[in-house]
Amino acid sequence: MKDIQLFIDKTYDFIKPEAIASYKTNAEACNHLLHTGEGKGNDFLGWLDLPSSITEEHLTDIENTAKTLRDNCEVVVVIGIGGSYLGAKAVIEALSNSFDWLQTERKSPVIVYAGQNIGEDYLYELQEMLKGKRFGIISISKSGTTTEPALAFRLLKTQLEEQQGKSDAQKLIVCITDKSRGALRTLSTQEGYKTFVIEDNVGGRFSVLSPVGLLPIATAGLDIRQLVSGAVRMEQQCADTVPFEENIAAQYAATRNELYRNGKKIEILVNYQPKLHYVSEWWKQLYGESEGKEHKGIFPASVDFTTDLHSMGQWIQDGERTIFETVISVKEPNHKVLFPNNDANLDGLNFLAGKRVDEVNKMAELGTMLAHVDGGVPNLKIELPQLNEYYLGELLYFFEKACGISGYILGVNPFDQPGVEAYKKNMFALLEKPGYEEATKAIKERLK
Ligand code: PA5
Repeated sequence: MKDIQLFIDKTYDFIKPEAIASYKTNAEACNHLLHTGEGKGNDFLGWLDLPSSITEEHLTDIENTAKTLRDNCEVVVVIGIGGSYLGAKAVIEALSNSFDWLQTERKSPVIVYAGQNIGEDYLYELQEMLKGKRFGIISISKSGTTTEPALAFRLLKTQLEEQQGKSDAQKLIVCITDKSRGALRTLSTQEGYKTFVIEDNVGGRFSVLSPVGLLPIATAGLDIRQLVSGAVRMEQQCADTVPFEENIAAQYAATRNELYRNGKKIEILVNYQPKLHYVSEWWKQLYGESEGKEHKGIFPASVDFTTDLHSMGQWIQDGERTIFETVISVKEPNHKVLFPNNDANLDGLNFLAGKRVDEVNKMAELGTMLAHVDGGVPNLKIELPQLNEYYLGELLYFFEKACGISGYILGVNPFDQPGVEAYKKNMFALLEKPGYEEATKAIKERLK
């Protein structure tokens, strides 16, 4: 079986092979540092061997819990924010039929999300949609105290209990949280909910291969064993015993740091399959929260092509030259559609008749890559042989490992997120949360 591959465009002088090669010692040392646990943030390295340490018993427990939800629910609401929902959503959207939610004869419950925003209309519409439906809840919060998911859980727990009775609701709520701390743990114990643990040493954005990602993914009817197998494979391929030249995580980490040092401050993750939109959202959190600190770090952005070629394409081709692109390319689509012939040929496209739609998409991909390179935008490409659980497992672990190495090369702690606290402090001060009296006074003074 082939693996995902990394291609680095060397047609221009942007990425000099000798410059990348000069990272060998540093990148290997950074990879090693992750494994010895002697680097920054070393209390959050549980994700490193998460794939290979998952036991048969644990997988079966997740699958059985997913089956209960699948057998009893038309809709399952996954409650969580940031790392507590993006990994699951990335995999579910990438591997589910794009129009599945419209189908009446369904094999799996519709998966919807809550707690990832505080939009009043969103919550209202969600509650309206759930009226009269058999639904379940997977509530995910490592801290168990995050405002957005706590609010959504309050609302939906009450609705579920009112609609189906407390005893049924108790069977249809699963919580994923800290093993002993936090409000969600306390509530789960009180109510007798089924729970899974997010280990202390696994941070939110590195938790997709824990129950945080695996339970919603299994509930959507996807094969978590294949996902984990792909991740195990990548864990081996990117281990610190694998030399720099053969280690795609180290190569990617080195290349992006080299580009950053040469003024490329923004990395745009590109896809040509709209199903990968949320993989980009997951990736943006992973890299943004891991590297954006100490006034350093590449800004992670994303586009969906060819859609965004008709909007952001202009900026990418001709705007400020501070960007580079990393393209996720899927070699073989899962389905076949041929470009149709049309007798009138008014659009002049009959020259494409009989070709696979993917051939047109691939030529758009290649043509765009060449145009952007000509326009001064370095390009990297990550190729997936196919879009399935196994290769997504490889991709997720590849990005996680590369992120750890890249953060260490950059010199930051990739596993903390002190910056996300600032908005919370202001929000609580403005909302006059008990305990925030001083901050409330100060913020009111400032806003006078
Ligand atoms: O990566 C992270 O640590 C964050 O995105 C968290 O996952 C997010 O803030 C949600 O936190 P919690 O799971 O504690 O509710």
